[in-house]
Amino acid sequence: MTTLTPILTKNWDQADSFTLAGYEREGGYRALRKALGLAPDEIVQMVKDSGLRGRGGAGFPTGMKWGFLPAESPNPRYLVVNADESEPGTCKDIPLMMANPHVLVEGVIISSYAIKSNQAFIYVRGEVLHVIRRLQQAVAEAREAGYIGTNILGSGYDLDVVVHTGAGAYICGEETALLDSLEGYRGQPRLKPPFPAVSGLYGGPTVINNVESISSVPSIVENGADWFTSMGTEKSAGYGIFSLSGHVTRPGQYEAPLGITLRELLDMAGGIRAGHRLKFWTPGGSSTPIFTDEHLDVPLDFESVGAAGSMLGTRALQIFDETTCVVRAVLRWSEFYAHESCGKCTPCREGTYWYKQMLKRLEAGQGEEEDLETLLDLSDNILGRSFCALGDGATSPVVSSIKLFRDEYLQHFEQGGCPFDPAKSTLWG
Ligand code: NAI
Ligand code: SF4
Repeated sequence: MTTLTPILTKNWDQADSFTLAGYEREGGYRALRKALGLAPDEIVQMVKDSGLRGRGGAGFPTGMKWGFLPAESPNPRYLVVNADESEPGTCKDIPLMMANPHVLVEGVIISSYAIKSNQAFIYVRGEVLHVIRRLQQAVAEAREAGYIGTNILGSGYDLDVVVHTGAGAYICGEETALLDSLEGYRGQPRLKPPFPAVSGLYGGPTVINNVESISSVPSIVENGADWFTSMGTEKSAGYGIFSLSGHVTRPGQYEAPLGITLRELLDMAGGIRAGHRLKFWTPGGSSTPIFTDEHLDVPLDFESVGAAGSMLGTRALQIFDETTCVVRAVLRWSEFYAHESCGKCTPCREGTYWYKQMLKRLEAGQGEEEDLETLLDLSDNILGRSFCALGDGATSPVVSSIKLFRDEYLQHFEQGGCPFDPAKSTLWG
């Protein structure tokens, strides 16, 4: 039986967990002192050896990304933290920044030192004013304590950290759209390559990492790469925050080694709400193909979830019981993608619009069986043909739900309306 590993979440229940004093009482900023005594390349190697993979969803090896920075560049190097968490169901970075902002700040300082950058940005989504204020406060406290600024702790290393707010567009979580937004332009994805590691912010070599990835760095520096690899699986090392939401008895954030299963997480979360049973769920947010109760024992690591036909993504486990209409859920997600599509490329801009129109009709029982083939054909024209991951992600719930719940789509046509009673589901009325 896998158990929880509270590391980033260990002090969340303490009233002053977000203050410098509260963080230092738990050993905070000890890793920074250790890091400043090491050569930057030693830290990069340590993160490579730990096997830490990007916690923002894609799972790209963090140390390898750092290693892509060119040795020579006419432009300065930057560290940018992607704190634009917006994936439907994903709610790990925001509570982390609220309860433990200093672990992120410490991670920013260590990571910036490791990649030899003197300027870091934390890009936070604009709607979460409370998080922005909390981060600004944490950065101010760290500066006051001498952890940010010039000659940090007498090491000769200088760093400035800026908390920058977005304006509430999901696409600005895509790393190159984020860079455009940070530079003051309308946020739209850039062509890759060049990857940001080579040419990113203002054309400088830029490391962009998710909040949770950067927050994991202090624990790796403090405890060593072997400690990190002792958790999780061989290719998906370490721990991560799993966000359980929806029809679950105790929704929330559960920090556990990668490879834990939904069955184990549900045991800790009190199971599906009383009197109901699991119908479908997302392993990593709405951009990942849905699973059913047949997938309860799939280890939640990058390889196993991939082999079972989905993606680990952001570990946003949205749980739906038998009262939920799957067509309605997919419609809601599709409305989101249509709204958030930045419009730069035709497959996504037009495709997500047509998803919305067709699913609305189908959910109201006004479609016909042939529409399902049209939806799948449309998906073929979006997936792999879109400019960025948003378009590809939009196809996941549509394609997987038709595959797993074709009969439920058909029931809508046969009955001339939705067979579910919205009043019985707590998710929408
Ligand atoms: P990606 O696989 O294209 O890239 C992952 C990272 O690796 C990027 O930072 C990229 O620059 C870097 N990289 C990849 N190949 C490289 C190379 N050859 N050289 C240098 N760097 C390289 O994935 P992407 O588009 O960045 O992210 C997609 C994922 O984001 C999805 O799987 C989804 O789970 C997640 N996502 C998360 C959201 C959230 O709110 N946290 C929102 C939407 C999506
Ligand atoms: Fe914009 Fe969608 Fe194309 Fe991405 S896939 S560039 S969000 S239109």
